[in-house]
Amino acid sequence: MANYEGRWKTVEVLVEDGIAWVTLNRPEKRNAMSPTLNREMIEVLEAIELDDEAQVLVLTGAGESWTAGMDLKEYFREVDGKNEIYQERIRRDACRWQWQLLRFYNKATIAMVNGWCFGGAFSPLVACDLAIAADEATFGLSEVNWGIPPGNLVSKAMADTVGHRQALYYIMTGEPFSGQKAAEMGLVNKSVPRARLKDEVKAMAAKLLEKSPVVLRYAKHGFKRCRELTWDQNEDYLYAKIDQCNGRDPEKARSKGMKQFLDDKTLKPGLQSLKR
Ligand code: COA
Repeated sequence: MANYEGRWKTVEVLVEDGIAWVTLNRPEKRNAMSPTLNREMIEVLEAIELDDEAQVLVLTGAGESWTAGMDLKEYFREVDGKNEIYQERIRRDACRWQWQLLRFYNKATIAMVNGWCFGGAFSPLVACDLAIAADEATFGLSEVNWGIPPGNLVSKAMADTVGHRQALYYIMTGEPFSGQKAAEMGLVNKSVPRARLKDEVKAMAAKLLEKSPVVLRYAKHGFKRCRELTWDQNEDYLYAKIDQCNGRDPEKARSKGMKQFLDDKTLKPGLQSLKR
């Protein structure tokens, strides 16, 4: 089993019982996303993707924050005025993990929002497949409060998850809202008291761990892509994914599932998962 202890300065990783617990670890800075953290998160995501022990990735934050968004000092002020290509690279690193890698990650992902979740945090939040928040967590599109419109993929993330009026309200007012409100808006799947947060995430992860990881991957990728494709393209794409999935799944979940339902009569797929 890989030992990630002390491997990164700003991120902690622990793999246990199939779950990779990835913790943004700058609690003294409310886990603000600095260029160092962004670069390290690329490495973390790439390492976990190839770790067979880790089937579900949980993204959380140390202390009382999930993440307070982009680091205003290290990501903005200290980069302003630097070489223009350097600035592009700093942005590219942020985008690379916060939505490009995470959105089409090859393993299931859950955002466990334990506390403060502001601004740039919304990109990785929505890029994770599923999200559970603490009731006590505080969310906010705070950019407008300190003088920029939401950048990175923050507005896109809102547009993809919550309704038009709610998105514009919070983008334009910067008003903070609770975990419960985030759940009500569909920004997260559910919100629970902080004391129960980890258990809820474990229970959700356990459901995902029952499934064939290859099938799960094509299922989530198919859904995410289909938003941007036409009906015709979707028909082609989603059928192609089914074929690709059948070809690639080493567990042959499809034949197993059909056998368990049609021949053995041991499975009701409407009610439970096949036996892997
Ligand atoms: N960027 C850089 N530093 C940040 C930060 C951010 N986004 N969020 C917090 N910090 C730093 C503070 O500057 C402070 O550093 P210091 O101890 O060197 O002074 C430290 O983290 C603690 O912050 P503080 O404001 O004292 O903590 P708090 O618990 O009272 O408040 C927040 C927490 C999250 C409400 C508050 O820090 C905040 O509003 N942060 C900015 C959130 C934001 O607008 N993010 C969007 C960025 S795109």
